[in-house]
Amino acid sequence: MEKLVIRGGNPIQGTIRVSGAKNAILPLLAATILTEEESILYDVPNLRDVRVMKEILEDLGIVVREQRDHQGKLIFRVNPKNITTTAVNPNLTEKMRSSIFLMGALLGRFKEATITYPGGCLIGPRPINLHISSLEQLGAILTEEAGFIYARTDQLKGTEIHLDMPSVGATENIMMAAVLAKGRTVVHNAAKEPEIVDLQSFLNKMGARVEGAGTDTLRIQGVSKLYGAEHRVMPDRIEAGTFMVAVTMTGGKLSLENICSYHMEAIIAKLRKAGAKIQRQGDLLTVEMNERPKAIDVKTMPYPGFPTDMQNQMMALACVAEGTSVITENVFDNRFKVADEFRRMGAQIQTDGRIAIIRGAKRLSGATVRASDDLRGGAALVLAGLVAEGVTSVLGVEHIDRGYERLEEKLRVLGVEIERLSWD
Ligand code: EPZ
Repeated sequence: MEKLVIRGGNPIQGTIRVSGAKNAILPLLAATILTEEESILYDVPNLRDVRVMKEILEDLGIVVREQRDHQGKLIFRVNPKNITTTAVNPNLTEKMRSSIFLMGALLGRFKEATITYPGGCLIGPRPINLHISSLEQLGAILTEEAGFIYARTDQLKGTEIHLDMPSVGATENIMMAAVLAKGRTVVHNAAKEPEIVDLQSFLNKMGARVEGAGTDTLRIQGVSKLYGAEHRVMPDRIEAGTFMVAVTMTGGKLSLENICSYHMEAIIAKLRKAGAKIQRQGDLLTVEMNERPKAIDVKTMPYPGFPTDMQNQMMALACVAEGTSVITENVFDNRFKVADEFRRMGAQIQTDGRIAIIRGAKRLSGATVRASDDLRGGAALVLAGLVAEGVTSVLGVEHIDRGYERLEEKLRVLGVEIERLSWD
């Protein structure tokens, strides 16, 4: 087991390069299954979830070769020619909920798939009813037995689907099942996240005919075959946002390279309200802060609303902001678990259902805190440690490693006193 040990109080100064997006690379890796030809993915983030997805693909018989480019960034060459099974390894799917969209890709190419009910962050029940009903509307027969879902079809057929809610994963699953279906599929109330746009871009490079990603209506014209393609993973807007909150809390000046700032509008607007000075030039964004952050009100919503994956980080900022903040979590049922750990550091937080009220304290005290299986809560605890008085130890770093590449190294470069230590 490992922990991150942080001595708080240093301002952040310097530049980091944002890694490829975790929530883009995972569906992109699933999409490589849709052809027997090799695909190449650039700027792959070296994350635990990516390692698990690579293991899942290799367990299916897919060959994944790793290379580094001249800047040391990871490249995956994925060759799905000799897939030996359409049953996803249950020991691997329990480690990561997002394995559910392998079902759409396996159904699309092989007309069958077997997968267990996925695990993942326990941020409230993680139902997959929208995935199931959508795949059934496309002509798949799904049966459930002893925790396994068996999906079969003679032929997927395009249809009109109306999602009850703009589920990111369900939208991605539909896209990967529909690209090789017969006929046209229209998805109403589709998720509009940038990661959906990235998936559409890769699928169309493979020869698919998908349009509308980024809007609430997707149109997919099925084709008979897809081909290998090359694609660079979009930058991780949540990693970028996490670092932007860090400097807004510690004070100082941070430049972020490899960023799509138009993905960050809600985050930029909110941090400006907290007092941060934010400038953007092309794929560079600079955040400067030289005062105590002001309290903010946050309501998480599907994109382009404020992202739920940034909610715990904003709670960390609210813990030391001037005034009282109100945070409303509208996407997941129970994403305030980190509040207990903040309280151990002296934070004043009241939670009631979807609402958290945080009275900003002048400072927090260092403590030993534990990251839960919501990786964003773990990252938020690190942020609290950056400003806490004395030393903070964050246990459960393996959860943080699921979504952040070398977090402590990037923070150390920015002047933070932080190290990764093992502990039993
Ligand atoms: C994706 O999860 C992300 N994960 C999550 O990021 C992110 O928080 C979430 O989208 C929302 O933006 C990946 O992309 C790998 P949803 P996903 O389906 O697809 C309910 C992180 O920290 N729902 O949009 O699972 C669901 O319970 C992770 O990086 C149903 O009710 O999210 C939730 O309340 C955490 N039935 C809401 O919809 C379904 O069939 C949004 O879920 C599916 C979802």
